Amino acid sequence: MRAVTWHGRADVRVDTVPDPVIQDPTDVIVEITSTGVCGSDLHLIEVMAPFMSVGDVMGHEPMGIVREVGRDVTAVKAGDRVVVPFNISCNTCWMCSQGLQSQCETTQNREQGFGASLFGYTKLYGQVPGGQAEYLRVPFGNTLPIKVPDAPLDDRFVYLSDVLPTAWQAVQYAGIPDGGTVLVLGLGPIGDMCTRIAKHLGAGQVIASDVVPERLARARRNGITVIDSTDQAEVVARVRDLTDGRGPDSVIDAVGMEAHGSPVASALQKATAIVPDAIMEKVMQVAGVDRLAALNTAIEAVRRGGTISLSGVYGGATDPMPLMRMFDKQIQLRMGQANVWRWVPDILPLLIDGDPLGVDEFATHRVPLEQAPEAYANFREKKEGTVKVLLQP
Ligand SMILES: NC(=O)c1ccc[n+]([C@@H]2O[C@H](COP(=O)([O-])OP(=O)(O)OC[C@H]3O[C@@H](n4cnc5c(N)ncnc54)[C@H](O)[C@@H]3O)[C@@H](O)[C@H]2O)c1
Ligand SMILES: [Zn+2]
Ligand SMILES: [Zn+2]
Repeated sequence: MRAVTWHGRADVRVDTVPDPVIQDPTDVIVEITSTGVCGSDLHLIEVMAPFMSVGDVMGHEPMGIVREVGRDVTAVKAGDRVVVPFNISCNTCWMCSQGLQSQCETTQNREQGFGASLFGYTKLYGQVPGGQAEYLRVPFGNTLPIKVPDAPLDDRFVYLSDVLPTAWQAVQYAGIPDGGTVLVLGLGPIGDMCTRIAKHLGAGQVIASDVVPERLARARRNGITVIDSTDQAEVVARVRDLTDGRGPDSVIDAVGMEAHGSPVASALQKATAIVPDAIMEKVMQVAGVDRLAALNTAIEAVRRGGTISLSGVYGGATDPMPLMRMFDKQIQLRMGQANVWRWVPDILPLLIDGDPLGVDEFATHRVPLEQAPEAYANFREKKEGTVKVLLQP
């Protein structure tokens, strides 16, 4: 089959790789019809490169049609339409039963000291072949795939794999009081969807910051108050003006470690291009190469006693955090990979009757799998108005 594979920094290709086969009696094989490119994929071709191997199949936002099921699978059958969550969770262990699917005890990567395995996501998370491919082997066929109706088009459901539950969790973790104010940092797919969900769930004022013109324009069209800057001092000053000088009740960081505005970390990150992987892997685990610009803006901007919700992915192990400032401001901080299945029952009904979150028009680009390298480059460079790409194998 054809699949998007990792070849190095800023280098993905479409290669022919072996077709996946049923390995366990509860596996299913899904023929992928749509599969998203995510900001998290960009980390893999940048700072997380030391944890990837040449030939790894990328992607964790797939949906498609079940083509084959293992002998113990009863919940889905060939021909069913399913979305595949990005966390590989059994949905029967203790963590899963607590709604913490990203910590699934059946797929936790104990040797690496990391949580549940993820599709298409580094040695730290199980190095499981991903879903930017014609076919995907999906374990836990009775409990992992999300069965969705046969219509309408894929766009309606595909974001259940990641964007919707991630943004939904970010908004829940932000603890926005009724009618309160939230500041969303970053208007990539995740930040954009956070603004829509926050509004839908009753936030009084939704403010967002970014510098990419078409991303700002999209949010503005949805009635979001936008700040066209990512400069900390400017964002903090402007958000205070909008909130009686106090700051927002909640801030969602939808940026993560690729933030603009951390010169030192950016130099360190460039070093990953020239230092051998084995050494860099160690350095990253011990020292961390996070770029904390967005998180620092969140800490400064949030009102005293407010809540910060981190959905942007951070990768360093010992990043300096302004703990005195956080303690003094009495900040509450919640974060983590989205627990996809935890939120499916809340989100799915919104996709069945109408489209209140605007998912049908959410993708800016739908392209054949073969065009993945170009699509990745445009998404990474924010060219050609690329906000969300769906690959269609
Ligand atoms: N927690 C989860 O489960 C989960 C799931 C999916 C994605 N993510 C993470 O969410 C983050 C966003 O993903 P995405 O697909 O939207 O990516 P993206 O790269 O398209 O979006 C990031 C946006 O942030 C903007 N930005 C950069 N620095 C900024 C700053 N200092 N202040 C404000 N905005 C800034 C960029 O211009 C860009 O538009 C990534 O870190 C991704 O890894 C987390
Ligand atoms: Zn994703
Ligand atoms: Zn589990």
